[in-house]
Amino acid sequence: MHVDDAILSRRSVRRFLPTPVPRETLEHLLHVARQAPSGSNIQPWQVHVVTSEPLAALRNALQAAFDGEPGRHQAEYVYYPREWFEPYISRRRRCGYGLYDTLGIHREERDKRLTQARRNYAFFDAPVAMILTLDRRLDTGSFMDCGMFLQSLMLAARGQGLHSCAQAAIAPYHRVIREQLTLDDSELVLCALALGHADPKAPENSFVPEREGLERFTRFYGG
Ligand SMILES: Cc1cc2nc3c(=O)[nH]c(=O)nc-3n(C[C@H](O)[C@H](O)[C@H](O)COP(=O)(O)O)c2cc1C
Repeated sequence: MHVDDAILSRRSVRRFLPTPVPRETLEHLLHVARQAPSGSNIQPWQVHVVTSEPLAALRNALQAAFDGEPGRHQAEYVYYPREWFEPYISRRRRCGYGLYDTLGIHREERDKRLTQARRNYAFFDAPVAMILTLDRRLDTGSFMDCGMFLQSLMLAARGQGLHSCAQAAIAPYHRVIREQLTLDDSELVLCALALGHADPKAPENSFVPEREGLERFTRFYGG
């Protein structure tokens, strides 16, 4: 697969088939992804690969936490701004509404939106969930490095015919994850990666969010 094809065919898949992914394939993806660059080659990422029974237990615990007291869980890092502003707020809305449109969910149907949001905690039925963590003593540069690692992992997955979805939605539930996976206190829970074979019939998998034109984010100097 040409690298452009891997990049262009990657999209966030939100419904997976139950087909398992062999351990050797997972190890292959991690071997490839570990080649991601990082400042001073410190390789700050830690990955917890969860399948079968531990995944079922993690799903149950996360869904129970999601169904519990709202606002009780908070991420250990700030992903989004407290106050949204343009052009980001419009992009964010287009993304959310676009996904709900493919599922036939109307804007006022809050229960259905919540049901869809809850699917994050089932890892969209993926047979593999990877939880990315970072030593909390590291700083913002390491978040960049982990982003590189995450993208490398997602692209390596394309090379094996697999799809994925990065999930920051799990970050507020770090206590639940910490308990389920017996993580060390030093580990800051960044995000998850749901991984597996895409369900080709699922409407939510047909959603392709647009990208801005080059002129919206690029300036050329010198011709
Ligand atoms: C770090 C990160 C966290 C994300 N978290 C979630 C998430 O929690 N739930 C979800 O459905 N999608 C999540 N996404 C997917 C984005 O919504 C998606 O990448 C974006 O809409 C662009 O769509 P595409 O990935 O299909 O190209 C996340 C993406 C990234 C990079």
